[in-house]
Amino acid sequence: MTRKTLQDLFVHSLSDIYSAEKQLTRALGKLSRAASNEELSKAFQTHLEETQGQIERIDKVVESSGIRLKRIKCVAMEGLVEEGQELIEEIEKGPVLDAGLVGAAQKVEHYEIAAYGTLCALGKQLGLNDAVKLLQETLEEEKATDLKLTQFAQKAGNVQAQKAA
Ligand SMILES: [Fe+2]
Repeated sequence: MTRKTLQDLFVHSLSDIYSAEKQLTRALGKLSRAASNEELSKAFQTHLEETQGQIERIDKVVESSGIRLKRIKCVAMEGLVEEGQELIEEIEKGPVLDAGLVGAAQKVEHYEIAAYGTLCALGKQLGLNDAVKLLQETLEEEKATDLKLTQFAQKAGNVQAQKAA
């Protein structure tokens, strides 16, 4: 067992989320195409653009803190993306699949919120103030996306309930 420093942990966590974001850019296009509700489809598209910006932000974090990312694969994101893909294969296009996609996307956002929250905390401890500022911006974006998805689910739920009444 090797003794790792807090800096090592920061680099590992940042490399992990970098991989996660890259995987997500490929997945969000699929989610957007699979969604039948236009608003939801657009929300995935918007988050795809944001995700590209988040990758650029990680590049800036790397520059500002003078670290080197490791080539690792985020297996958690791989699994989350796979679950979304399974839904697309198993459920026909429509409101039920949309509800499933919202849930799958929220699992992704919650993972990312946890990851960026941890990175902000580690960065603060390491005194990487510029990096923390950038990571905080992404954290806020992820939270906003999560909230948007919650609001969409509530609205869709209300429409379904009205239909059933
Ligand atoms: Fe992200």
